[in-house]
Amino acid sequence: MSSTVANDYLRSSVSHFTINSFLPEVQPIQKLPDEFKEWNHLVTELPDLLAAKKFNSVIKKQDVKDVSSLISKGEQELALLMLSVFAHASIHENWKIETRSSICPSIAVPLSEIADTLNRKPVLSYYSHGLNNWKKLDSNGDVEINNLAIICRFYGGLDESWFIRTHIDIEKKAEVLVKAANTLMNLDGYYLDSSEVVRELNVVSRTLHDIKNVLANVRSNCDPDIFFNRIQPFMRGMNRVRFEGVAKFNNQPISHPGGSGAQSLILPLIDALLGIQHAEDELLSYLIHLRAYMPIEHQNFLSVLLSKNKLRSLVLTSDDKAITDSYNNCIYELAEFRSEHLKITVDYIHKPASKYSQSRERGEIGTGGSPFMKYLKKHREETLNHLIT
Ligand code: HEM
Repeated sequence: MSSTVANDYLRSSVSHFTINSFLPEVQPIQKLPDEFKEWNHLVTELPDLLAAKKFNSVIKKQDVKDVSSLISKGEQELALLMLSVFAHASIHENWKIETRSSICPSIAVPLSEIADTLNRKPVLSYYSHGLNNWKKLDSNGDVEINNLAIICRFYGGLDESWFIRTHIDIEKKAEVLVKAANTLMNLDGYYLDSSEVVRELNVVSRTLHDIKNVLANVRSNCDPDIFFNRIQPFMRGMNRVRFEGVAKFNNQPISHPGGSGAQSLILPLIDALLGIQHAEDELLSYLIHLRAYMPIEHQNFLSVLLSKNKLRSLVLTSDDKAITDSYNNCIYELAEFRSEHLKITVDYIHKPASKYSQSRERGEIGTGGSPFMKYLKKHREETLNHLIT
């Protein structure tokens, strides 16, 4: 097997498409320069303004700011986070009664500009809301759930903070998957022997096990009813919303899905690495559409993984039981993650939706807007179908 592996893992010419982590490599910038002090202030005031339903009346009075003075990527990312949070706060402020169909120029114009600068969409993405929305409490400590604070929040409070910190903790713990994927795909240009393949596959299965436990632990401090009634309503996307004052949209309404873990690179990376194929369905086409909401570096990395992967065919032709076992462990742990995730979606969306009868239709529709229930089950079953016997 060693020689087969070595022969098949040819030196790759695409290593410049790799990334080092899922999270930004340095702690996100916390405040914008002084000329944007109104926005820094609004971030602090947002929970109270939303509670008093006064956010739209405040934001409407603000001037349209020029974001071209924001040069560093860190500042641009923070501006995108703030402005997309403001946009969602504006649209969904009064969500129980109505969703607004337009965003005023003081948000719409700079949001559209900064999204273009960063090659992203003018909507609250998973990357902005989760991965770029934190600081360490103890700067000498690790990036881990009990050492994190959140920069932007809607109503705020423990449940919202814990929900976001859960995602950050998962993405941080999953960071080792980037290296494992690089090594297993030989994106680093190394040739692997069997024991290295087993070692990296074991990293993958262990990490999947760990992040499943972090996901399950979301329950400890994020109450499903609070999630459903006070957090998720603001994360929902834009359905035919006009960006006032943005010339390029020509006053035409635009739509974007809301932020969702489905925009995380982790599971698409694992699916690609393990060679898992899902049969065409509504969720799959939606997930492919969602890739456009990841940062371009994540999209590029995924494209490389999808085009270069030979792992599954190598395992299928291998007669080395240790390799097959460690591959199967990965499939098993991935299916376990998907099972836990499915339970979470039932507890956090489906059950509250049936409890609050006016929200029943939200029980089948995810944050991003997909008809998720039956397809999440199908994707878990399809994962298990890839066990090699
Ligand atoms: C309380 C926590 C969570 C809830 C309530 C939740 C909910 C959902 C929902 C409703 C969907 C259906 C698609 C949509 O409309 O968005 C979905 C899909 C998905 N979510 Fe989550 N999610 C949670 C946490 C996470 C985490 C932490 C991750 C991974 C980082 C994740 C990764 C995914 C993926 C990859 C999909 C696509 C389906 C798949 O490939 O299995 N989710 N999630």
